[in-house]
Amino acid sequence: MQLQDILFTQGFGTRRICSGLVQQGLVFVGKDRTPCTDATEMFEEEGLAFEVQGESWAYHARAYLMLHKPAGFECSHKPGAHPSVYTLLPGPLRQRGGGAAAGVQAVGRLDHDTTGLLLLSDDGKFIHRMTSPRHHVPKVYEVGVKHPLEPTQLERLLAGVVLDDDPRPVRAQACEAPSALHLRMTLTEGKYHQVKRMVAAVGNRVESLHRSSMGSLVLGPELPPGQWRWLTSDEVQALTQKAGATIE
Ligand code: URA
Repeated sequence: MQLQDILFTQGFGTRRICSGLVQQGLVFVGKDRTPCTDATEMFEEEGLAFEVQGESWAYHARAYLMLHKPAGFECSHKPGAHPSVYTLLPGPLRQRGGGAAAGVQAVGRLDHDTTGLLLLSDDGKFIHRMTSPRHHVPKVYEVGVKHPLEPTQLERLLAGVVLDDDPRPVRAQACEAPSALHLRMTLTEGKYHQVKRMVAAVGNRVESLHRSSMGSLVLGPELPPGQWRWLTSDEVQALTQKAGATIE
């Protein structure tokens, strides 16, 4: 692929801008960062590392990443009261693909005060697969509650509670209480404010909410709040394989 096209696909601007960046000597290619000023020079893009205006980048045909969402950010491109999670990502990730729906999109949403694992991608099929209720991707939430948990509350969460927008009960796939004020809950759906509403439905209240895993992917201490990283191809494969298998 021509260098200007590589830069374009990765979100460094229009083809004209990308061509200009190369011609101005702002692009260095390969692990040894060889300067390249010919925008039409051909490179094998798979696995290519390069640097644009001091920013190191690795070519990815599709973007799959995980972000440790901090509190106080909205999962929206047009946030209301809080900054957008997309401001935590470098410009190329927000621009890649160009056009109206440019950039990576969050795989489902977390509330502004929820922390934890947020997946983002520019692969529409992957986003659909991960968010579709049919695919039952398990999501684990660490929930701080206001009142000491009672065994009946856990039993009711497992048995199913009815929320105001749907007569069909929603239930937790797994539920445990590591301590009196700490509930760990696994859900396979992603209804609006689902954890908060389920906990309220059994007579308690969510004080803090953190998503610690999605499918096979676990958010570890190596990714501090506000940081992101690319998923490996093995991680993407494991997620989509799991997402294809339904659990009852
Ligand atoms: N459930 C909620 O109530 N909020 C979230 O952010 C995620 C799940």
